Amino acid sequence: MARIVRAVAPRSAIGGATQLGGRPKAGPPRHFLDIDQYDVGDLRGMIDLGTAYKNGRHDRPLEGKTLAMIFEKPSTRTRVSFEVAMRQLGGDTIVIGTADSQLGRGETTADTARVLSRYVDAIMMRTNHAEKLADLARHATVPVINGLTDSSHPCQIMADVMTLQEKKGPVAQTVVAWSGDGNNVAVSWVHAAVRFGFELRLACPEALPPPPTVLDWARREGGRVSLTHEPDDAVANADCVVTDTWVSMGVEANISRHNLLAPYRVDERLMAKAKPDAIFMHCLPAKRGEEVTAAVIDGPQSVVWDEAENRLHVQKGILAWCIG
Ligand code: CP
Ligand code: NVA
Repeated sequence: MARIVRAVAPRSAIGGATQLGGRPKAGPPRHFLDIDQYDVGDLRGMIDLGTAYKNGRHDRPLEGKTLAMIFEKPSTRTRVSFEVAMRQLGGDTIVIGTADSQLGRGETTADTARVLSRYVDAIMMRTNHAEKLADLARHATVPVINGLTDSSHPCQIMADVMTLQEKKGPVAQTVVAWSGDGNNVAVSWVHAAVRFGFELRLACPEALPPPPTVLDWARREGGRVSLTHEPDDAVANADCVVTDTWVSMGVEANISRHNLLAPYRVDERLMAKAKPDAIFMHCLPAKRGEEVTAAVIDGPQSVVWDEAENRLHVQKGILAWCIG
């Protein structure tokens, strides 16, 4: 698993200079790269603003602003929720696929960052390589937002924390259990558990844990994050059970991976170990019969559609924080 992105735009890349495109920059751009990089006050502020928009706030702080979205991997929720969020906040979007842009012919991420910064007000990127997002952020003079990398998926987990709070109240008093691959989504859950102060119990196969660097970071930060190989132990009396696909984008699907993950499938038996009113979350897309049974994801404890909806709301908070 690739390392975690820890990029901030260096001041040297900003320089305070007036750009040829006529966008003088007062200071470093406010990127949204990974949940571990921000304090809980900022993170809560983004969620609260998203909640305000969800509850009817209707100002348009991004009038005249444009978000470019670079996709190296497919997307339904991220693409559509960012497009709609920008429009509802008064702004606009441009979608750039790597295959039909010069990125596909080898133009560097750094040069792409420099050029796009002259045209648009923020850049969202979904990439196979966290290093590319870091490079983009290092060279862009406008905010860069992480739309998923192989290492993390912070916008998703901001929506998940918003959903957890809506369903269960103050999140610091909740226990979240993860059963499955220790993938990019699990990493952002670890970041969120530490920053928001809830307990996170991860159950992952021995061969598919989250990166040890992330767990070490959680320990150093005093987070309540544990790792086991026993889903029943992780889920016992949890308030929320979460899982994700067994085969993330860019990962090879094979029978050994399937066999490793099969004991971590969230089914009715496993859900019954959690609190009776526990919720089930999944970032989607889901494969019924693999990481979760249809009875669970389509059952009464599942909140996956509210969770997907909250991508739209929380991203308004993130966009306004970055660009507004
Ligand atoms: N959950 C999520 O990011 O979905 P998409 O891949 O459809 O954007
Ligand atoms: N872990 C999944 C999340 C998809 C939104 C992946 O990276 O494909």
